[in-house]
Amino acid sequence: MLDQVLEEWEELNADFKQLEIDNKTYLQQLNELTSIQKKCVNHISHQRYRIGVLSKSLRELKKQGDDPKIADMKSNILTRKAQLFDIEQTLPKQNGIYLKIILGNVNVSILDRDEKFRYKDEYEKFKLILSIIGIVMAALNFLIRFRPLELSYIFLLVWYYCTLTIRESILKVNGSRIKGWWRLHHFLSTVAAGILLIWPDNETWSLFRNQFMAFNIYISLVQYLQFRYQRGVLYRLKALGERHNMDITIEGFHSWMWRGLSFLLPFLFIGYIFQLYNAYALYVLSYTMSTTWHVPVLSGMFLVLFIGNTLTTISVIPSKFHEKVKLKYRVMSQRFSSQLLNREVRIILLLIFCLKNIFMFPSNQ
Ligand code: COA
Repeated sequence: MLDQVLEEWEELNADFKQLEIDNKTYLQQLNELTSIQKKCVNHISHQRYRIGVLSKSLRELKKQGDDPKIADMKSNILTRKAQLFDIEQTLPKQNGIYLKIILGNVNVSILDRDEKFRYKDEYEKFKLILSIIGIVMAALNFLIRFRPLELSYIFLLVWYYCTLTIRESILKVNGSRIKGWWRLHHFLSTVAAGILLIWPDNETWSLFRNQFMAFNIYISLVQYLQFRYQRGVLYRLKALGERHNMDITIEGFHSWMWRGLSFLLPFLFIGYIFQLYNAYALYVLSYTMSTTWHVPVLSGMFLVLFIGNTLTTISVIPSKFHEKVKLKYRVMSQRFSSQLLNREVRIILLLIFCLKNIFMFPSNQ
């Protein structure tokens, strides 16, 4: 029995030695990987610096006269910028201050394109599930007046918006083009929900609560429409980036996007008017006898949200006209990098095939 145990222990020792060798190789490769990553980051900054200098020279040259070569060069620079952005997405990035405070200096970079897609998709699903729960809870609160239910709903809102700010910061690190206002909007919403949570259960709250619940039911419904639009954009963009996918073109994507936007925008603007109405109702309530500091502060916050949302959404419309060019380069560069990858994979496969043939040949004879 003891002999068998000793024998197994020896066997395990041999295994462990192999593990040590493999771990050493792994650490070596990890070191190499880190140094190559640093090299790429340096190359990118160098490219960006020189592109900046070249663009400046092109602007000077353009003042002296138009030349078709200048237009060519400009278009090449745009393509290069898109390619650099794409390469950057395959390298780890530093967290912003907010993530550093919340998570510490942990690496949240997602380097694989499919993983990135999955993370964004999951973020959209998270918003959808929470907005469904939100509708149910807001409707229950509208029908029944029960303080613990009210507080649990408002606490859910604090947690939801706070979680959104973290997820959006992670998306930003991973190359999302989300506008600063939407992130700020969710920070402000967290603060507003926090103030609602500590608003005492007094007469002003009783006067405002049903309007607030109705507003939330409406916003949750709009969030469902937003989810459908954003998911459509996400999946269509993914399909556009795939080289062999012929089902969707940039033109097709744009006409779908405009249809989606023109359906969504009226609902969004009604929501913003509702926000303005909330600001006004709270402003009026701030002059009543039982008012507390929460009322004017929330009135100001609803007004800020109304102005920020309206201006940002209006600014999205003209930017979508210019987006066509940017999108073209983004898709081109995406296809270019997958082409490159395919070429590399093909070369590696060819090498493996050749090596296999060389080494297999004598044993086959
Ligand atoms: N929240 C989170 N992310 C958003 C966002 C929002 N409100 N609006 C846009 N984004 C993201 C997009 O998903 C995209 O991400 P990606 O780079 O990871 O692919 C990026 O920001 C760029 O989006 P953009 O091209 O500017 O806009 P869009 O076509 O995706 O969406 C709107 C345009 C107007 C439909 C969208 O901004 C929107 O729904 N805004 C309304 C939000 C709102 O008002 N909420 C409160 C309701 S009262």
